Amino acid sequence: MTLALVSALPEELQAVLDLLPDEQRIAVGGRAFWHGHLHGQAVVAVLSGIGKVAAATTAALLLERFQASAIVMTGVAGGLGPGVKVGDVVVARELLQHDMDASPIFPRHEMPGYGRSRFAADAAWADRLVRASEATLRDPQASLGPDAVATFQLQAPRVHQGLLISGDRFVSRTAESQALQTELPDALAVDMESAAMAQVCANFARPFAVLRTISDRADDAAHVDFPRFLTQVASRYSAAVVERLLGASA
Ligand code: ADE
Repeated sequence: MTLALVSALPEELQAVLDLLPDEQRIAVGGRAFWHGHLHGQAVVAVLSGIGKVAAATTAALLLERFQASAIVMTGVAGGLGPGVKVGDVVVARELLQHDMDASPIFPRHEMPGYGRSRFAADAAWADRLVRASEATLRDPQASLGPDAVATFQLQAPRVHQGLLISGDRFVSRTAESQALQTELPDALAVDMESAAMAQVCANFARPFAVLRTISDRADDAAHVDFPRFLTQVASRYSAAVVERLLGASA
């Protein structure tokens, strides 16, 4: 049973690889997959690639070539829902591709051939991610150190659960963010990969779960220093959550 650990960002992948004592690199399809062990559990770690096509290709390779029994993904996302602030974490319960539009032949957002617009995350893995991220956020200083907590003003970070939406666009205009919130009022956050991975996992009937740290509010307000946020916050949260996830279940 090999668990796939997918990172959206190189900084995050590195933080995960730092936890593996024995990783070996296997190159397939223009990607580097890292096979190793974490707390005795066989894992394969890889970058998703950016955007839905890259993510779907990575997922298909993980499931078919590496026979991954489940995919757990981490990354960053733009906050949409009220109260979903920078430094919070979103664990998806449902996923949707916000740029899927085959209307008027199919209703807006419906995935042609699937008869639905939403894919469910695996409940058991999502529960584990919630528990691991709540434990991590309870004491952000333990994984981030005092400097990052002060720099990014991470006051009482929260874990949210619900709808995560994905599309091939970095949402960086308030007007677009507002349009998404009007169209999909229950969407908590937006990224560029997760819903594509969920679709591929549904095809293979394998579990998928994803955690995203909120790096920005998907608007045109100048947000935090993105590269520093990735190295100092998101990648450290991801590694701490992954470590807890497998430490607790090993
Ligand atoms: N990932 C992080 N922030 C994002 C945003 N604003 N839009 C899409 N993907 C993101």
